[in-house]
Amino acid sequence: MSSCQPAEALDQQRILTGISAAARAGLRSLTVLGEVDSSNRFLLEGESFGEAGVHVCVAEAQSAGRGRRGRPWVSPGGANLYLSVLRTFDVVPEFLQGLSLAVGVAVAKAMQSLDVQGIALKWPNDILLGGAKLGGILLETSARGRGPWRVVTGIGINVRMPAEAGASIDQPWTDLAAHGAHPGRNRLASRVLSQVILAQAQFAEAGFEIFRRDWERLDGLRDRQVELHDASGSRQGIARGVDAGGALLLEIQGRCERVVSGDVSLRMVF
Ligand code: BTN
Repeated sequence: MSSCQPAEALDQQRILTGISAAARAGLRSLTVLGEVDSSNRFLLEGESFGEAGVHVCVAEAQSAGRGRRGRPWVSPGGANLYLSVLRTFDVVPEFLQGLSLAVGVAVAKAMQSLDVQGIALKWPNDILLGGAKLGGILLETSARGRGPWRVVTGIGINVRMPAEAGASIDQPWTDLAAHGAHPGRNRLASRVLSQVILAQAQFAEAGFEIFRRDWERLDGLRDRQVELHDASGSRQGIARGVDAGGALLLEIQGRCERVVSGDVSLRMVF
């Protein structure tokens, strides 16, 4: 498809057909919406998604798309991919850090399967292409008590961001079209779902450890000088990969500090 043609409409049947048989086996529902406030909220608060198994929502547009750290996720209609996956986990909430990194590996594999070269990951949840943000991952849970926990994994990927909408994004961003990639949103959704559903099942069995090597191969900040901002202020260090739980290892003056996600932001220092 050339970048001048309108994006293909999302189609539930086409997405379903493109999902691998292994991933489809665990799928309970796949909802395609014209517009929703947030596909994450839709699954998290929807009463009809209580049944065990995987529930998916894909939306053409979001009027209140949610990003990390309370930021909005710019979600114009018919342009990009906005997708959420609901699944129940028995693991304790601290494990969710590793789950979000495992999902990053899954999204990178989906991109590679579509011949998109050069994807990198930026801890904790950014998907980069050519050094700019192509997409992001937001995990939300309605965790209460001892679990099991309903976890919604939201994934946003910029496919062909209209210039006007892109102008309101407050960080360097890119889209697939700018890199000559036009996979089609239905095919992209199918590939991402095939990988993410599989990765979540593997994570439920074995945790983050089995994803760690792949994550470190994709680590766009490895051995780079970075600046970290959190509630206690900002500090600089060298990014040294992640530990077995997915915490960032930051070398500061020769000592290694373990940083857990949360209200943390990270930027590269040039
Ligand atoms: C980030 O800030 O990097 C995370 C962005 C996550 C955006 C996706 S789009 C689909 C899903 N629904 C939402 O409201 N947010 C996530």
